[in-house]
Amino acid sequence: MHADEVVVAEPVTYDAEQASRLPGVVRVTAGATQRHVESPGVRDRTTRGTEVASRAEQAAMRRAIELARRPGGTLGSNPRVGCVVLTTEGESVAEGYHRGPGTAHAEIDALRQAGGRASGATVVVTLEPCHHTGRTGPCTRALVDAGVRRVVYAAADLNPTAAGGAQALTAAGVDVEAGVLADEAAAVNEAWSFAMLHQRPFVTWKFATTADGRAAAADGTSRWITGPEARSDVHLRRAMCDTILVGTGTVIADNPRLTVRDADGSPLPAGLQPLRAVMGLTGVDSVAAVLDDAAETVLLSTRDPSQALKELFALDRRHVWLEGGPTLAAAFAAAGLVDEIIAYVAPALLGAGLNAVADLGIATIDAALRYELRDVTRLGDDVRLVMRGVG
Ligand SMILES: NC(=O)c1ccc[n+]([C@@H]2O[C@H](COP(=O)([O-])OP(=O)(O)OC[C@H]3O[C@@H](n4cnc5c(N)ncnc54)[C@H](OP(=O)(O)O)[C@@H]3O)[C@@H](O)[C@H]2O)c1
Repeated sequence: MHADEVVVAEPVTYDAEQASRLPGVVRVTAGATQRHVESPGVRDRTTRGTEVASRAEQAAMRRAIELARRPGGTLGSNPRVGCVVLTTEGESVAEGYHRGPGTAHAEIDALRQAGGRASGATVVVTLEPCHHTGRTGPCTRALVDAGVRRVVYAAADLNPTAAGGAQALTAAGVDVEAGVLADEAAAVNEAWSFAMLHQRPFVTWKFATTADGRAAAADGTSRWITGPEARSDVHLRRAMCDTILVGTGTVIADNPRLTVRDADGSPLPAGLQPLRAVMGLTGVDSVAAVLDDAAETVLLSTRDPSQALKELFALDRRHVWLEGGPTLAAAFAAAGLVDEIIAYVAPALLGAGLNAVADLGIATIDAALRYELRDVTRLGDDVRLVMRGVG
């Protein structure tokens, strides 16, 4: 296959056993290395504890992970993947990343940039190259045809139709090393892996609150509870999701744009914006900001969180950023459909106004919904808490 051919990604389905081995889903214990599939002839840092990858290769893997994290495009049926091409001296000559179904795989993107410099090079990639003969042929063949000498990758490809890349490369005489920065690479695709396992998007509920748990003042105003650092963190994190979801109440009260803006406050191009989704039975005013052409918008005329997630999954959505308000958040939390909570807490009091979450029907302390605290970070004068569902 020629490096300039576009590899069209195939939809991926997993059975329970395969899904349980997806990167980022199963970890043996907190902090332990994820399970890894070994291939004959492939050196594997993860399982053998050897440290073969050079400093330059490890630095390139860090860069490849950064590339994989780039915002934009739907995740669809494919994970995020980044790739860097290194000369034998360890100099980076090309980079690539996957932009979603229907676009080139990261290796093909990088090989295109590298051209003839791929011959004799080392390719560092966050996911095992695919060995799938679809409409255009496998990445393994493109790497061999380009004369690549060595391939270093982070996580095994557990998609049964695409797996076997490491073995195929080894058989073709390419030096292969697996498991380099495997946990870091898997973290990039954690929400995607969850979505493929559970066949629904991963849900992150974000809210801003005063220290006394108010999400808006008595007159309904909520701009701004937190400071600029917290608000720009919201934009960074929004960009990593493929859907921003709010209830009709928030659209009516705040008329938000729900777009991702960069550090200068300019919106990202429409093609890179997450989908905007508004949930509820009330129609949205045709002049509402959420219906402008800055990004795509879908109206989910339901109050059933499971149904909404089903519809979003069918639209190839894998990570929902639930921005409230309190009513919608309560419905998702009560249904057990909040997987992660990111709370921005301001050192301020309101004493009255809207609670950060509406009534959950909990009457006694033993029935409180409990989450595991994963991270606490100060952002300017505010604090960001990251919590995960337990069990
Ligand atoms: N501090 C923050 O982080 C934050 C974030 C967002 C909003 N807010 C504030 O929150 C306020 C709006 O609050 P809100 O609770 O009205 O907003 P909301 O949760 O966005 O919208 C509530 C509406 O969603 C619809 N809905 C969809 N699914 C539902 C379900 N399962 N159960 C009940 N209703 C469902 C209902 O409208 P239908 O009748 O159309 O079905 C309901 O009235 C504003 O003042 C805004 O500023 C604060």
